[in-house]
Amino acid sequence: MSKVDMAVDIAGLKLKNPVMTASGTYGFGEEYGEFYGPDRLGAVVVKGLTLNPRKGNPPPRTAETPAGMLNSVGLQNPGVDFFLQKELPRLLDKGACVIANIAGNTIEEYCIMMEKLDCSGVSAVELNLSCPNVKEGGMAFGLEPGMVYDVTERVNERGHKPLIVKLSPNVTNIAEIARAAQEGGAHAVSLINTLLAMDIDIWTRRPVLANIYGGLSGPAVKPVALRMVHQVAQAVDIPVIGMGGIMDWRDAVQFLLAGAKAVAVGTANFVNPYAPIEIIEGIEKYMKQQGFSAVEAMVGALR
Ligand SMILES: Cc1cc2nc3c(=O)[nH]c(=O)nc-3n(C[C@H](O)[C@H](O)[C@H](O)COP(=O)(O)O)c2cc1C
Repeated sequence: MSKVDMAVDIAGLKLKNPVMTASGTYGFGEEYGEFYGPDRLGAVVVKGLTLNPRKGNPPPRTAETPAGMLNSVGLQNPGVDFFLQKELPRLLDKGACVIANIAGNTIEEYCIMMEKLDCSGVSAVELNLSCPNVKEGGMAFGLEPGMVYDVTERVNERGHKPLIVKLSPNVTNIAEIARAAQEGGAHAVSLINTLLAMDIDIWTRRPVLANIYGGLSGPAVKPVALRMVHQVAQAVDIPVIGMGGIMDWRDAVQFLLAGAKAVAVGTANFVNPYAPIEIIEGIEKYMKQQGFSAVEAMVGALR
């Protein structure tokens, strides 16, 4: 069978294929190294970084739900400086295309992190404006179009790297928020982050998560994510990166058809560490069967 062109261009960033990891579900890649090299992926999106190290929320902070999981990890991470010194060089040595995901308590914190990352080897920066699990951790910035515009514009002024704005699904009108990101100068948007959710243990009569609320991800959120990606792809001219419940190549193809130029694999990494690789191979096979010579031709090809 002839070869198909799997490459995609996200705002000038050339990815060898359209499959990346979703932030927070692949750490900094170390644990996955025994399964496959990070250079196999279109890009590695690393765990959300903050200006200073964070311990995250107390346990229990994950729980299984029907067709998904809840998490309230609360942005546990070693901080942006440690990432730049220790984790990034290791990933770059292995040939990975690295996207840093950042969350700030204030707009200025986002800006300082952008400046630090701008003179590093990361290929792009993803602004987490949507973390539901920490009081300060971004979601407050992602719920209101004026705020999304302001953060995006101010962070963009402080760097030259492609800026991806990650959107929260916990809003009424996702298209309006995506347009605000585009107007603020975002080079791409990614969606969805987790849906604010909770679970209750009826025997202890307590919330299952110590944080009470957490973010729902996995197959349960896919139909919501697909609807939002479809709406956003029609509302903006910048590339859309789709995620939310992508467990196999069929799910990934659905997001591409709905208008996503690339996809990110999250919760699936916990179930099957090879998921992203199987998804890349599955998309390639589907393209050959369906007569698509380039993955970009599939983007938005929904009839
Ligand atoms: C355990 C866990 C940790 C996460 N941490 C982050 C994070 O640090 N930053 C971020 O932007 N999204 C984070 N997310 C959200 C994912 O990147 C993704 O947007 C979401 O889980 C939906 O995709 P999925 O259903 O494929 O998991 C996290 C998700 C999970 C399950």
